[in-house]
Amino acid sequence: MNYDNSLVTLEGFDHLYSFFSSKIDSKLVETVLESVFLDRKIEGPLARYKDGKTKALRKSQQIRNMIAMLNSLCENPEKILEIGSATGKMTAEIAKVLEPTKILGVEIKEENVFRAMRDFEDRPNLSFVSVDAFSFMPDDRPDATLCLHGCGSLTDRVLDIALSSSSTVLCAPCCYGLLEKENEQREGYRLPRSRTLKKRESEFKKILARASHLEGSGISYHPNIRQIYHDLILVLVNFDRVFYLRERGYEAGLVRLTTKVGRDINNITYLNSPHSLAIMGRPA
Ligand SMILES: C[S@@+](CC[C@H](N)C(=O)[O-])C[C@H]1O[C@@H](n2cnc3c(N)ncnc32)[C@H](O)[C@@H]1O
Repeated sequence: MNYDNSLVTLEGFDHLYSFFSSKIDSKLVETVLESVFLDRKIEGPLARYKDGKTKALRKSQQIRNMIAMLNSLCENPEKILEIGSATGKMTAEIAKVLEPTKILGVEIKEENVFRAMRDFEDRPNLSFVSVDAFSFMPDDRPDATLCLHGCGSLTDRVLDIALSSSSTVLCAPCCYGLLEKENEQREGYRLPRSRTLKKRESEFKKILARASHLEGSGISYHPNIRQIYHDLILVLVNFDRVFYLRERGYEAGLVRLTTKVGRDINNITYLNSPHSLAIMGRPA
């Protein structure tokens, strides 16, 4: 769970953006990203992690690391809120391991909530509600607000919910390709949202356009170049989210939830998906 947060600065953003905006030289960018990710190595098949069992292994690793990270950020959280809880896998695991007084899973899809309620009806500290997080605010102030794989601007909503209740936040974002479109549709969620990166609006537009192109088009970039762009997009977008929290009095940074290189069920090396990165923050 290493990440050098001293690099999460405006200078760091400009430096990484200069690679993003020039013609990608994979060796050079690889070297730079190694300095950011520390354990970055471009090797191994990229698609292996997509097989079902390996995906499940990775998900449970991420859940375990979310819990370990939460435990180190927030001592004995009594009330926990999880946004985008799907069928309640992580919610139930947290309820079991950390034994909070109360954990609430918020999920937009009713069928997921019904399933979670049915599967975990015997857990008294666990509850679920089906509601759109964009129109939800907790009645009871949570000690921690979590989200594992908050698609597109759901991550930004999670940060706002945490800030409004001054709770610790841990959120692993995903689906960067959605952001360009969602930014047009969602009032108040247009990126960049930090004052620091408002000075870089035109650069941000290009980042989000590239993200939507990369995730939406299936164009034939060399796999390493595709991965490098993915990593750059992920880091640059999340710099904004970290600055946004810091500007509101939070101690904030980025953490890795899995190692960059993983091993699948057949012990074959593969590159972990960039979704294994999380934003963490707590009131300073
Ligand atoms: C990528 S999935 C991640 C699910 C789960 N946290 C996991 O890691 O397996 C995102 C989840 O967030 C839910 N979701 C998306 N938008 C939402 C919203 N506006 N409010 C509440 N839940 C939302 C989706 O239905 C989905 O279950």
